[in-house]
Amino acid sequence: MSDDERCEEYLFKIVIIGDSAVGKSNLLTRYARNEFNPNSKATIGVEFQTQSMLIDGKEVKAQIWDTAGQERFRAVTSAYYRGAVGALVVYDITRTSTFENVGRWLDELNTHSDTTVAKMLIGNKCDLESIRAVSIEEGKSLAESQGLFFMETSALDSTNVSTAFEMVIRDIY
Ligand code: GTP
Ligand code: MG
Repeated sequence: MSDDERCEEYLFKIVIIGDSAVGKSNLLTRYARNEFNPNSKATIGVEFQTQSMLIDGKEVKAQIWDTAGQERFRAVTSAYYRGAVGALVVYDITRTSTFENVGRWLDELNTHSDTTVAKMLIGNKCDLESIRAVSIEEGKSLAESQGLFFMETSALDSTNVSTAFEMVIRDIY
């Protein structure tokens, strides 16, 4: 393989973080396999999926890592973040506590990341408008103050899921 050919492929590591049950695993399965599980169990340890997209005619592969929101089910934190160049920080728009914990997740990410990381704040479950507890404005203003992209998504009805992942991947690229 020539150097030119070798340069045609890019592999980026992206991590998904946030409290338990905000929908991290379902965002990933929706994006990578177009699947949603209404009865998904809490993640134990770490799982990942690789997903390709074309940017300017080049194949870009994202290796997207998903871990447990619950402390007791988490794998070694430093290994999880090592080499990550993108991060999705997820909260659930129907549970204020998950939004209040975003700062904690950002602190952990900043402590453990070794390079510049493209970050997006995600308010998931926007299909549940009738029981919304965090406004779009609150999400936006937190994202702005921390220098993050922002988007509301629904893993259930697919709203903005690929858009969110692809925005992060494009920013890295
Ligand atoms: P941990 O693995 O424990 O950290 O949780 P998680 O963040 O991976 O959450 P998970 O994807 O397992 O989803 C938790 C619950 O929320 C499941 O019952 C999902 O079906 C549900 N859920 C996830 N995304 C959405 C969404 O966009 N809308 C609605 N209505 N429910 C969702
Ligand atoms: Mg999970």
